[in-house]
Amino acid sequence: MSESEGAVVSELGALATQAGTGGAESASGARLPNARDAVRALRPSQIREVANAGFGVPDVLPFWFGESNQVTPQFIRDAASQALADGATFYTHNLGIAPLREALADYVSRLHGVTRPQEIAVTSAGVNALMLAAQLVVGAGDRVVAVTPLWPNLVEIPKILGATVETVSLTYGDEGWVLDLDRLLAALTPDTRMLMINSPNNPTGWVMTREQQRAVLDRCRQHGIWLIADEVYERLYYGSDATVAPSFLDLATRDECVIAVNSFSKAWLMTGWRLGWIVAPEGVMEDLGKLVEYNTSCAPSFVQLAGVAAVRDGEPFTQSVVADLRASRDYLVTALQRIPGVDVRAPLGSMYLFFKLPGTDRSLELCKTLVRTSGLGLAPGSAFGPEGEGFVRWCYACDTARLDAGVARLREFMEARAGSS
Ligand SMILES: Cc1ncc(COP(=O)(O)O)c(C=O)c1O
Repeated sequence: MSESEGAVVSELGALATQAGTGGAESASGARLPNARDAVRALRPSQIREVANAGFGVPDVLPFWFGESNQVTPQFIRDAASQALADGATFYTHNLGIAPLREALADYVSRLHGVTRPQEIAVTSAGVNALMLAAQLVVGAGDRVVAVTPLWPNLVEIPKILGATVETVSLTYGDEGWVLDLDRLLAALTPDTRMLMINSPNNPTGWVMTREQQRAVLDRCRQHGIWLIADEVYERLYYGSDATVAPSFLDLATRDECVIAVNSFSKAWLMTGWRLGWIVAPEGVMEDLGKLVEYNTSCAPSFVQLAGVAAVRDGEPFTQSVVADLRASRDYLVTALQRIPGVDVRAPLGSMYLFFKLPGTDRSLELCKTLVRTSGLGLAPGSAFGPEGEGFVRWCYACDTARLDAGVARLREFMEARAGSS
């Protein structure tokens, strides 16, 4: 079975249980210090590797990172300035300031049904929320399942804690990336501790259907598996049926083993602010608060106040972001489809196209060459797991002039390559 057919791949987390005592010796015979084996075994970022290859290349067009080239809207920046002017420079409650927890509870209730402030924890962005959620439920030797291709952080975080991660890959075909539900259900064995699902998905744009969510939630209930739903792209949804992607929060009650992770980064263009949140059962909040204390103590107070403005007043802005992204997605798909040999489809969510280029069986090398020779910055598919090999990821959160310039560079590169082969 090939990886693209959706193999369940076991990844080694057991290493994490070994202490890193240091192996190499210096010239004087002294033992050199080492990080723990589990940490040394973590995958370095291939996107960074490509970006480093472009260092010194003038005029690179960067489509590799998952963020817009627009700044955060003025009303949110003003709220932060005002908060600073008012002296909001102190520690806050571990779980966040009350106005933000209340505003988020209203927001989540509007989208997904009744949610109380006691079920919300404010975090230092989505990645910190993922780490906290994993620390809350996973320990050394635990079995974790993740649906891939996937932003690498989700797969690596449990390994830091000594867990073993098994991946169940989406499959790619005429309809783009789809989930083999039976394969996923089969991987959810009684000894599984945690399942991680990111929908809408980075990098593929895949969106899990309501029926799939129902089946997976039932299996998790049956075996007592914690479900971590990474829903940071939930508003970046292009289905005609709703302004938010299907969420596990629509199906689960708030006292079940479901933790939803979210972020201000994507829907309000706040990547650099590092603000996010978790929806979790009230029963785990005290323990979550302890973990926040030992990780960051709290999110910055003036950033939290800016977050209140974003959630309270930001709906029209978010909807305009999504409309622009939908237009950019369609524009880029059409432009790329005009390049001979490019295989690309419009996915239902997120801010990326994850597509095949002819002869891309070594996407890391290809992306390094693209940036060095053409100044085109794409992310290699292999950065998102072995099933992503053969693909590249393009973040389309920018204006059409920039997309045009990027497509022209890709076309030229492909023509030159076809001419030389
Ligand atoms: C799938 C996924 N989850 C979480 C995050 C975390 O984003 P942040 O830490 O900026 O909130 C990202 C960022 O790109 C992401 O792609």
